[in-house]
Amino acid sequence: MDDSKNKPPHGLSTRLVSYGDRAFSLYMRRSFASSMGYLPATLSKPVIGIANSVSGFNNCHRHFPELLEAVKRGVLQAGGLPIDFPTVSLGEAFLNPTSLMFRNLMAMDVEEMVRAQPMDAVVLMGGCDKTVPAQLMGAISANMPAIYLVGGPMMTGRHKGERLGACTDCRRFWASYRAGKVSAEEIEVVEGRLATTAGTCAVMGTASTMACITETLGMMLPGTAAIPAVHADRLRAAEATGIEAVRLSQSKITPDKIITRKSVENAIRCLMALGGSTNAVIHLTAVAGRAGIDIPLPWLNEISDTTPVLVNLKPTGSHYMEDFNAAGGMSAVLHELKPLLHLDCLTVTGQTLGERIDADTDPYVDRTVIRSMAEPVEPLGGLVSLFGTLAPQGAIFKRSAADKTLFETEGRAVVFSSLDDLAARIDDDSLDVNANDILVLQNAGPISGTGMPEAGYLPIPGKLARAGVKDMVRISDARMSGTAFGSIVLHVTPEAAAGGPLALVRNGDRIRLSIKDKKLDLLVDPAELAKRKAVWEKEAAKKVQPTRGYQQLYQQHVLQADKGCDFDFLRAGGK
Ligand code: FES
Repeated sequence: MDDSKNKPPHGLSTRLVSYGDRAFSLYMRRSFASSMGYLPATLSKPVIGIANSVSGFNNCHRHFPELLEAVKRGVLQAGGLPIDFPTVSLGEAFLNPTSLMFRNLMAMDVEEMVRAQPMDAVVLMGGCDKTVPAQLMGAISANMPAIYLVGGPMMTGRHKGERLGACTDCRRFWASYRAGKVSAEEIEVVEGRLATTAGTCAVMGTASTMACITETLGMMLPGTAAIPAVHADRLRAAEATGIEAVRLSQSKITPDKIITRKSVENAIRCLMALGGSTNAVIHLTAVAGRAGIDIPLPWLNEISDTTPVLVNLKPTGSHYMEDFNAAGGMSAVLHELKPLLHLDCLTVTGQTLGERIDADTDPYVDRTVIRSMAEPVEPLGGLVSLFGTLAPQGAIFKRSAADKTLFETEGRAVVFSSLDDLAARIDDDSLDVNANDILVLQNAGPISGTGMPEAGYLPIPGKLARAGVKDMVRISDARMSGTAFGSIVLHVTPEAAAGGPLALVRNGDRIRLSIKDKKLDLLVDPAELAKRKAVWEKEAAKKVQPTRGYQQLYQQHVLQADKGCDFDFLRAGGK
């Protein structure tokens, strides 16, 4: 007997099509839903939407069909009706110019589809770098009860007895190939051995960092961030997520109750303790911005200076995500960080973070992978923000992945005006560059037309690489892959294309970097800079802007890195 008419609107009876007659709208909807073979009683159950970002262009999500089945099993078992729907998917290696340019598009897709379709809660299925922040951003703005299921990391591959994990080892081998130490034949073999299973990159890159942050925020089931993609536990986590989603639809815990200033602070602490990706600063800023929470970069520094790096994972350490999971994963990290965390934050299960940590009474920890607070990998957090005349609104430096001998550097700028200029000249043997110089890349920021690519990991100039130089200070308004490493200053804000001081740097200028003082200065007379700015403004006025479609929307509304590169009209309060 269908008793749905006696209950408050839920499931399919919510968010009806506007025909001006609610009863007719529901009758129509149930009729069309019946065409999919559902029994009337099934159509009266709580509806759990499943935002599925599977795509043939996303290798990291190739196991999602199997995961989806497991989520559905869980939902059915708990008395709900699972209904999956596709969204934009962002496969890191398959998008031109960059996946970041489309993160906000995916966030809009998720937000609007979650808001428009009839569901009582949503399971967000993602994993590859930009998909996790995009889905979180959308779910927060829709403010629908939501629970996250990540795809989990890849397993490592093997090459000549050595473990390989995408994509820190991709870069290491490519650098050796550029330096002439690996042959063309061998690099081709390595290409087939770097990414060998389903799942996200195998190191603490952006995808894994965002997964761990999402667990810390309280948006996913405890202990599920790091389970490998191909492990049976990943399927069990999917089934359990489905069960939890039905409970969540009854408890009505919405993201605004979970994403708070305190939980965001916990997430930043986690980021620091993981030695996590620089990209996570941008993404977490955008996620928090959807909940009306700003992350001023000085706040980041305060937290970084009071949080040790605990996790010994590539690219900053030596282990891989499968090791992290076996070593205790996020449960072990949160136990260790407990004295520094806000324990009263609500999580998606209804427990507080403190209750979640205490529920795990004796977590196993492998101390070779996850260190104690007393014996950390590094005494200070992995990331630091810099300010100064070259970066008035800030820049990011990953100190845990950099050469400490370069922390206090003054050097001569060698400037590349664009990505094309970089590609054309970096390996030119006549390039005037030596190992003590500072490489500067301009016009690779959010509004540069490049989509802020992960080009901040400028290659060491060919002639220096062959001479054995492994690291140099490199500065840009670009990003860097979470799997990369080096003494690299990123996200310089304002970017060159917005007329920031970065646009005014010329070959031979002196630049000073001080990690101790958190400073980045261009040592050029202000009067000279004013002259250069006047010339820059004339040139900038001639630049052709996109005239239609998403490119135009992006160009007109994307914010700088210090606001997470979100669109101005999508942040809470529209700013
Ligand atoms: Fe998808 Fe690295 S390419 S996580």
